[in-house]
Amino acid sequence: MIQNLKNTIDFFIRNNTRFSRKNFVEKNEKLLHRNYLENLYTFDILDKCLKKTQQVNAAILDIGCKNWFYAKGEFYFFKSFCKDFELDGVEIDAHRLYSNFYSRYETAKFYIKNLKNTTYIAANLLDITKKYDYIIWFLPFVTKEPHRYWGLPDCLFMPEKLLSHAYNLLKANGQMLIINQGEKEALIQKQLLDKLNIKYEEKGIVKSGFLEYKNSRYAYLIKK
Ligand SMILES: C[S@@+](CC[C@H](N)C(=O)[O-])C[C@H]1O[C@@H](n2cnc3c(N)ncnc32)[C@H](O)[C@@H]1O
Repeated sequence: MIQNLKNTIDFFIRNNTRFSRKNFVEKNEKLLHRNYLENLYTFDILDKCLKKTQQVNAAILDIGCKNWFYAKGEFYFFKSFCKDFELDGVEIDAHRLYSNFYSRYETAKFYIKNLKNTTYIAANLLDITKKYDYIIWFLPFVTKEPHRYWGLPDCLFMPEKLLSHAYNLLKANGQMLIINQGEKEALIQKQLLDKLNIKYEEKGIVKSGFLEYKNSRYAYLIKK
């Protein structure tokens, strides 16, 4: 209860003050190298899981993009087979500050710099109404503990409603890829999909030679 109260107050303050240093640039060579691998990992996972259907003017959404450190991986994956596309990333907690006093929003500006038609949207997924050909959702919160630990108020924990909304944003013939971490979360994800009667292809554990995460990652591919 105390944690929720703290999260609610902090979330309210950061969204109303929107305080941040400006013009973030990552200069640390080690972190840049790690980021390079994270983007290769992203490209590789998308390449392994999504069906590439040649498209003109595709609309793509990343849900819960945080500071969008992996935007380049997504961008260059879609660039490999889509002629012209719009890439949107939506993040509800965009104004959260890092210890260097840059917000996620400001940090994301660095990661999406020079990526054509790529937009970071500081908003709740539930406020998005545009329709998409592809939706990418890395690590959605399906249990309350990580959501709380992340610093979000309990009232924003609504995995079923968010999943239903995301599915409704998908165009006919669209594809949505959901990646969960750990077997427990993957199982809960599966139960949510079943409950909403959403058909999916279970990809099981997905791996990339570029990076290995502590918890195994599981993928579900939804085709409309
Ligand atoms: C576990 S993090 C994953 C971040 C990122 N996708 C990654 O792979 O590192 C989940 C993210 O979803 C965001 N989120 C949670 N609920 C959301 C909502 N309703 N709309 C948009 N973003 C949301 C959180 O703030 C958080 O940044």
